[in-house]
Amino acid sequence: MIVAVDGPAGSGKGTITKIISQRMGLVNLDTGATYRCVALASLRAGLTLNDEQKIIDLIDTLDIKIEHQDGEIKVFLNGEDVSKEIRSSEVTKIVSPISSIIPVRLKMVELQRKMAEGKDVIMEGRDIGTYVFPNAEVKIYLDADVNERAKRRYKENQEKGIECTYEDVLDNIKKRDENDKNKEIGALKVAENAIILDSTNLTIDEVADEVEKIIKNAK
Ligand code: DC
Repeated sequence: MIVAVDGPAGSGKGTITKIISQRMGLVNLDTGATYRCVALASLRAGLTLNDEQKIIDLIDTLDIKIEHQDGEIKVFLNGEDVSKEIRSSEVTKIVSPISSIIPVRLKMVELQRKMAEGKDVIMEGRDIGTYVFPNAEVKIYLDADVNERAKRRYKENQEKGIECTYEDVLDNIKKRDENDKNKEIGALKVAENAIILDSTNLTIDEVADEVEKIIKNAK
């Protein structure tokens, strides 16, 4: 079974997929983490967004793995645990344009499909229900007001010790929304048959209960 959860940055996808994977025994796959690994590797190689061909060449040297340890998702890049580094402000700033580079997308989508092979998964991203798994049994589009999303992400960053200001977070989310919605391949949009959930005025538990109900109905 594939449960696709798409939506903009800060809409609660990560929090909700983690809860549901634990409640319902689904493997939780965060597809944004794969693009974040490419962004981190590019920064470490001293590349900028102007070095498109070099970024494309770099992806063949990357071994990206997502593992689950004690209920936490761990992301490994060439064997190194980069779970924290991929959330830095530097990575967050360039990840959306990096994910727009078509060969990067094609390679990451191939990897994401392979990661899900033979498993019951809940997969979060932007294009899971539209492009990665258009035949997913359940499609959910999670949304929330942009100021609420920025507030949540700012709080989360503070808890994780990631340096940023609220204004920076809001500005980054607005830019990513714009870029993610206008991609040539895999643009952020509501998939056909997707159920839209607006979490602006809902608690985490309320959203999780609703998602659980939707999946149970589909089963
Ligand atoms: O979910 P996230 O914030 O970690 O994602 C980081 C970026 O990766 C996001 O701005 C757009 C891109 N992304 C994508 O293009 N397609 C996906 N399925 C997931 C993420």
